[in-house]
Amino acid sequence: MQRQREHWESRLGFILAAAGSAIGLGTLWKFPYVTGANGGGIFVIFYLICTLFIGIPLFIGELLLGRKAQRGPVGIFVTLSSEATGWKSIGWLGVVSSFLILSYYIVVAGWGLNYLLLSLNQFTLDRSAFEIVDVFNTLNQSGDITLFWAFIFLLMTFGVVFQGIRQGIEKWSKVFTTSLLVILVILFLYSVTLDGFGEAVHFLFAFNVTKFRPSAFLEALGLSFFTLSLGQGVLLTYGSYLRKIDDIPKIAMIVGGMVIVVSFLAGMMIFPVIFTFNLPPQGGEGLVFKTLPVLFAKLPGSMVISTVFFALFVFTAFTSAVALLEAVVANLIDLYGWSRKKAVCLVSFVVFIVGIPSALSGGGEIFKKWLPMYGKTFFESIDSLVSIWLLPMGGLLLSLYIGWAIKTSVLKEAFSEGSRWQAIFYVWLFLVRWLAPIAIILILLQKGGLINVDSFFIQ
Ligand code: PFF
Repeated sequence: MQRQREHWESRLGFILAAAGSAIGLGTLWKFPYVTGANGGGIFVIFYLICTLFIGIPLFIGELLLGRKAQRGPVGIFVTLSSEATGWKSIGWLGVVSSFLILSYYIVVAGWGLNYLLLSLNQFTLDRSAFEIVDVFNTLNQSGDITLFWAFIFLLMTFGVVFQGIRQGIEKWSKVFTTSLLVILVILFLYSVTLDGFGEAVHFLFAFNVTKFRPSAFLEALGLSFFTLSLGQGVLLTYGSYLRKIDDIPKIAMIVGGMVIVVSFLAGMMIFPVIFTFNLPPQGGEGLVFKTLPVLFAKLPGSMVISTVFFALFVFTAFTSAVALLEAVVANLIDLYGWSRKKAVCLVSFVVFIVGIPSALSGGGEIFKKWLPMYGKTFFESIDSLVSIWLLPMGGLLLSLYIGWAIKTSVLKEAFSEGSRWQAIFYVWLFLVRWLAPIAIILILLQKGGLINVDSFFIQ
């Protein structure tokens, strides 16, 4: 017997949950870093174009499929096509990617929790810059402590998903997404007062033609996919809890707009701190756990700034982790008729086990030769696997499925339901049917080393 499906209680609740899923570590540490590495201004324009013309149309597509089928990621393709077609592999691909991301997300977010506590204890007070940096090295090499914090973070995520859609995800996303937006604005206002603010704005928005590389466009598309949580079953799942009265195109544009604004705010918050101390823009854990704490220590009110920043870090990761866990859980509930309780317990347990190598690899307690062999730690390897390959592949198959495998009349009906945006249906369809697949195929060919887009343009 089909169980009654829960739906979001309000449009605002859904918007905050979807925005919470999108705004995550990708926005906070990947966006500033990748923007920095690709020369600032021009990359930001690419990112905007990719988000508006490819990211948001696919975002709309995922939500439409989810709402139409009212099932989890794999069930959607079984319902809309049939069991026999291979399309359901798109759902599985998404579920596997979500699962893999979650396994290393909990490690990084756990470090964030650890730094939140350290900040409250004023850990930079009697330490030199060198010693502050060394705190992270110690943490990274202490598998037990890393694992402990990853566990606590996973437990928090578990607690929310366990409570279901309205009482769990919607309620807590409202609290955390709102808090993170408020914190971000406060930190941004603080950054405005720093000497490096002007330089940061110039860096982010000024056109630097000498740094122009066509392949940066593909980087921007990859980043846009990650930050919008596309191609991983999360939006398919969240879409399946939408009601018929919800205006999907409009909601997708609101969430997409929020992600863009938040990415800019994150950049304008982090770069001024760096430029104030004349450092080159860099990213990843080096930026968040080494550079920023050293710089925070030199600023007035450092304890508060540092605490608030790491609270922001944890909150952004939290709402994204909830979405990732839900995608996997919803799939099991739908496909195998499991209870939510059983699915959440089992998935969380397996995520923790799979997360162990990510947590322990920094200290060489496990996979000692991984780093020398592959040039990346275990968790960086999973991140690249997902971000470079699985995610674009999921996006490509999805755009092909929506654009070519589903009847236009069915799509049009799903698009128009609850929406006043019917007029742009054919524009949307064109973007999903043509622009998205072509752009993603180019990414895959470029990343696979089969083409070099730069050489087409630059002799
Ligand atoms: N969008 C999140 C970020 O930018 O960190 C990461 C993410 C969350 C990706 C959820 C995918 C997802 F399904």
